[in-house]
Amino acid sequence: MEHALDITLSVNGTQVSRRVPARMHLIDFLRESLELTGSHIGCEHGVCGACTVRVNGDIVRGCLMLAVQADGCRVETIEGLSDSKELAGLQKAFHERNALQCGFCTPGMLMAAQDLILQNRKISREEIRAHISGNYCRCTGYQAIVDAIEEVINGQG
Ligand code: FES
Ligand code: FES
Repeated sequence: MEHALDITLSVNGTQVSRRVPARMHLIDFLRESLELTGSHIGCEHGVCGACTVRVNGDIVRGCLMLAVQADGCRVETIEGLSDSKELAGLQKAFHERNALQCGFCTPGMLMAAQDLILQNRKISREEIRAHISGNYCRCTGYQAIVDAIEEVINGQG
């Protein structure tokens, strides 16, 4: 039988305790055990960015981190940031600029974009492109995504 461990962590502001298989990835824990399915699973090996979540304030790939490694951590997902309205400006800009089509990449893309926006400084288009270069989108060609992020950054004044 696979080894299991008890973990306690904060997920979107709520304290959660569970027994998890030692080899379960954080993204599977969030999606399967907590039914937070907003974060997606694409490549499962750290390339596509679909599984991007925040751990202790930093964005990480949920497919490269084990659930047990998040023991004691503060985890935030697209659901949490959406409910708190932290992403409201970005979501509006993505919607208005058609920066999504199938939407598969969008949760991870928004998490990555918000990470850049929180730097609260002037950011060039090239920097935006570099920052989201680890988040793959098969649909949009990226132009509209960069436009939307740029709009929010410029709107910060
Ligand atoms: S599923 Fe994690 S980076 Fe692709
Ligand atoms: S909108 Fe379809 S993968 Fe990005």
